[in-house]
Amino acid sequence: MAVNVLVPQHPLIGHFLSVCRDRTTPMPQFRAAMAELGRWLTYETCRDWLPTQKVEIETPLDVKLSATRLDWEQPIAIVPILRAALALTEGCMPLLPHARVYHVGYRRDEETAEAHCYMSGVPDKLSPQERFLLPEPMLATGGTLIQLMQELTSRGADTAKIRVVSVIASRPALQRIGAAYPGLHITCAAIDDKLDERSYIVPGLGDAGDRAFGTE
Ligand code: URA
Repeated sequence: MAVNVLVPQHPLIGHFLSVCRDRTTPMPQFRAAMAELGRWLTYETCRDWLPTQKVEIETPLDVKLSATRLDWEQPIAIVPILRAALALTEGCMPLLPHARVYHVGYRRDEETAEAHCYMSGVPDKLSPQERFLLPEPMLATGGTLIQLMQELTSRGADTAKIRVVSVIASRPALQRIGAAYPGLHITCAAIDDKLDERSYIVPGLGDAGDRAFGTE
């Protein structure tokens, strides 16, 4: 079975994606564009996902209304994978100001392209009621995301309450993730067909972490 992929057709998303793909974009503009993508992709992800409640309010014109508010009593967490996801998360957080943020660190082995967890801020026990937003800018092989999903679900998270925000997802990653977590919701700005021999996405945008933080 496949993942549930949403690629929103929006001029703002198209614009900031092209800024990120352009090799001449300097670091500050690249990071700002990633944050914008985090904002707009989170906006699209949340459309049918955030819990709401009915409240009674009164307007300054003495009219009583039944209105809708977000229900912040229901827990939600953002889980950014260090370090490339930090730039994307900058844009996610203002939309979800009450969300907890559990940072995790995975380092990719350049030889095997497999990721190893070197740091986890995820609590030992998670509530199955908690919603999780996972910002992962580049879904190249999908290996890191699958490892993170395993970590979250082994600690009690409900797969159905997890959503992923990505900038570019490769087709091979979507297939692999779909086999492991059918129906998982992924919102991304683009789907690219291929990986190169180093497991970089082609055409892609290069190394998102290096470009966001000015490293090589
Ligand atoms: N990580 C990146 O930053 N870019 C890729 O193309 C693949 C993994």
